Amino acid sequence: MSDFIPQDLIDRIRDSSDIVDVISEYLPLKKRGKNWVGLCPFHVDKKPSFSVSQDKQLFYCFGCGQGGNVFTFLMLHEKVGFFEALDILAKKAGIGLPKTKMDKERLDEIDKIYYANQLACQYFNFCLKDESLGNRAREYLDKRKVSVESIKLFSIGYAPSAWEGLLNYAKRKGLGSKTLEGAGLVIKSEKKKGYYDRFRDRLIFPIFNLSGKIIGFGGRDLSGKEEPKYLNSPETSIYQKSKLLYGLNFSKEIIRSEKKAVVVEGYMDLISLYQAGLKNVVASSGTSFTSSQANLLSRFCEEAYLFFDSDSAGMSAALRSVNYLFDAGLDLWIVTLPGGGDPDSYVKKFGAKKVLEKLKGAKNLIDFKKELLGRDFSELSLKEQEKVLSDFAEIARNIKDETRRGLFIKKTSEALGTAEKLLTGKMGVIKKVKDTEKGSSEIKGQELLEQNFLKILLERNELIEQAEEKLRSYDFVSPEHKKVFFTITEIQREKGSVPPVALIDYFEDSNCKKLISEIAMRDLGSADLKIQFEDYLKRFLHLQKEKKVKDLKGKIKKAKSENDLEEVQKLIFELQELIRR
Ligand code: UTP
Ligand code: MN
Repeated sequence: MSDFIPQDLIDRIRDSSDIVDVISEYLPLKKRGKNWVGLCPFHVDKKPSFSVSQDKQLFYCFGCGQGGNVFTFLMLHEKVGFFEALDILAKKAGIGLPKTKMDKERLDEIDKIYYANQLACQYFNFCLKDESLGNRAREYLDKRKVSVESIKLFSIGYAPSAWEGLLNYAKRKGLGSKTLEGAGLVIKSEKKKGYYDRFRDRLIFPIFNLSGKIIGFGGRDLSGKEEPKYLNSPETSIYQKSKLLYGLNFSKEIIRSEKKAVVVEGYMDLISLYQAGLKNVVASSGTSFTSSQANLLSRFCEEAYLFFDSDSAGMSAALRSVNYLFDAGLDLWIVTLPGGGDPDSYVKKFGAKKVLEKLKGAKNLIDFKKELLGRDFSELSLKEQEKVLSDFAEIARNIKDETRRGLFIKKTSEALGTAEKLLTGKMGVIKKVKDTEKGSSEIKGQELLEQNFLKILLERNELIEQAEEKLRSYDFVSPEHKKVFFTITEIQREKGSVPPVALIDYFEDSNCKKLISEIAMRDLGSADLKIQFEDYLKRFLHLQKEKKVKDLKGKIKKAKSENDLEEVQKLIFELQELIRR
């Protein structure tokens, strides 16, 4: 997979860490039997379908079918290429990677996009520092009281007003416009041939993923005239806005230890609070929270303080966010600011101590919503009351934990001064959580047979040669099975045995990775594998024969219809031979 890093180094890096430790950094795992299980991070998982095997060093999700080794996990979870995944683990283990690292030609597509972002950030930083180019941007930062340390920590930069500034800079560093386009940094020109820079004359805030890699940018207009005020990178293969919380890479440790996060809307809000020493903060970047952002945050803390602008846009963003955050199991507190201010201006005007006081006086979700009514619940019209009840019922219905749901219903009814029965009545039957999870029971006969057969070969590499005498990869029905069989026979010839955990790195195709993880973790029972092997081989050959018989019969029929008697005789002879064998 990676032809510029020696295989033994890849093996060494992979073996340097335990997959259970690595995955535990991302999600809680519990020991169950031989394996470790948890909620799958790759689909909406209601019961722990995600399984990690310590002896095999593989993971597999019985819900969505994702699977692979520790590299696969990092690639999927951190949205990085193979090289980056290798790099992450190598750093952990203190193993150095060869200097050929930035051999741009050979990087995976995803690695190239990371590289493009890194390069662009360098360029923007350089322009901000430049005496004349960055002058205005530096004055702006000064005016907004962004400290030198913050500029450095958040890698703030400046994109000058040139059309081909970044384009030329990247070209000099050997990076082409195609990759820049893939990273969302340049735009293809409709009129002229060629490309131009997306970010021009804007203050640049790099957007980081959880591990601190740059995945996109937000650019603030400095003129006060250009629309939009903030121009953001488009969605790319590494940047999905709805899944990202700006600043979480800086604040995650503090949020984890304090078990509380302050949620703001804007880049500047976050930077100002952080700079003032309130570091347990994340920014939703304008839009209201999505459920993936809420779930992401809930991995780090138990309580969220929504600290949004008090203008109507801020309020409606808060209102749209609360349900997702609440559904993710977070306790919610809502902070309102007087008279149109935002956290950035508030902390600059009044200081961190006042902000802390504000947070202390935050309202819980029920009181917040109650106050928004403007009047006492009892004074509302029946229609209005009904609407309020169904709003609360909707929240209650989504609370997964039964105790929490009960407490919420009790508290809401008390706050509104109604009977609990009215609220529960509105909730109706709590919808059974839809089980979209597909079991592996659907695997059909032949497929199962092929998989179990491959499993035996994975466990007992010495049987591969015997299998190869009787079978070829084209005898397998599924294309993945063909590929896996082909590859293991190749590797067997070249290197001898290879365990499944290492085999995974030979495949680009994620379906093959999933397949290997799944079958490696399958339990074939206690019967002797050699005996099972012979049994499977027999059945395999039998099925193969049946298939050929069917094929031949079809051909005979066709030849008959064409009156090709010679062909018919030849085929019948072949058929008799086959049946006799
Ligand atoms: P705001 O309009 O509240 O801006 O948008 P702000 O953060 O207070 O910015 P300053 O203080 O005027 O510089 C909040 C967030 O919404 C996103 C940005 O992430 C911004 O930080 N946003 C806003 C956009 O993405 N595009 C826009 O045009 C406006
Ligand atoms: Mn602001």
